Amino acid sequence: MRALLLFLAQREGFKNFILKFGFFQKAVSRFVSGETLDDAIRAVREANSRGIRGTLDFLGENTLSRDDAVRSAREAIAMLERIEAEKVECNVSVKLTQLGLDLGREFCCENLLQIVRNARERGIFVRVDMEDHNYTDRTLDLVLRAHRESDNVGIVVQSCLYRAEKDVLRLLENGIRVRLCKGAYLEPESVAFRKKSDTDANFVKIAKLLLDSGLSHAIATHDERMITAARQYADERKIEKGRFEFQMLHGVRRDLQLALAQGGYNVRIYIPYGTRWYPYFMRRLAERPANVFFILKNLFIG
Ligand code: FDA
Repeated sequence: MRALLLFLAQREGFKNFILKFGFFQKAVSRFVSGETLDDAIRAVREANSRGIRGTLDFLGENTLSRDDAVRSAREAIAMLERIEAEKVECNVSVKLTQLGLDLGREFCCENLLQIVRNARERGIFVRVDMEDHNYTDRTLDLVLRAHRESDNVGIVVQSCLYRAEKDVLRLLENGIRVRLCKGAYLEPESVAFRKKSDTDANFVKIAKLLLDSGLSHAIATHDERMITAARQYADERKIEKGRFEFQMLHGVRRDLQLALAQGGYNVRIYIPYGTRWYPYFMRRLAERPANVFFILKNLFIG
């Protein structure tokens, strides 16, 4: 089921099919805050009112034209302006293929640097999301370059990849802040663990490395076993709650988000918005088959 949904995530044509069903649109709105920046800022305010921070994401990936890539960079700068003007507790997340990575590394780097420089002036952090393994080296390279100029930029590492630990050690040597997640893409066996238990074990191993590093990193998961392992390790090592944060996705495990925030942990949620929600939405369905069964039940039983 997961593989099928991740395969369909790469087929935009399927979007037109699912849009025929009103129920899908309702399902999309669970994971996506809306189509506009206003919608997203509203979601950030709501999160802030619960003691939770946000990271804004303008949906879109694998941009095919330079104009689109430049428009996406402008949108990221609009997000930064709004975050500053509205004084909300929020930063931004960007994807390099949205900023033109498929169109040229230098072009994409220039777009990223513009965002990072603008964010630095406003004291805002920029997180570069990690896409499938074909982009890992280039993403690391561009983040390392941007970080040499400005330390308000960080990256994501996926524990499903065999290379994850090695990458983390390199990032820590360079003082780069990491968001650790399991990985949302369909990856071949040549680069990624097949068994979920291996990805989970690697997640815990890397979370410990991050917690020990003294830098402020993010543990991004809804998996209570991962969260408990990180909390226990931090307690054992007397690492203060304020030294790291837990991150989750908009619309997923709101109960857990709130419980952690009320327990004194830093919690940040990833708040996507925009009209290009299709691949993001399909990845969310793939993560939890129960979401699909729930949708199918509503489609066929009503
Ligand atoms: P897992 O998939 O094992 O799920 C554990 C439990 O969490 C499930 O049993 C269920 O209860 C709940 N859950 C998880 N997903 C759910 C969903 N969609 N709907 C409902 N319940 C759900 N990936 C990537 O490749 N690159 C990236 O840059 C990012 N960025 C990112 C940022 C943030 C803030 C988060 C939280 C996640 C990402 N991810 C990501 C996605 C990540 O790789 C992973 O696919 C999801 O977080 C799901 O994995 P879990 O760690 O939650 O565990």
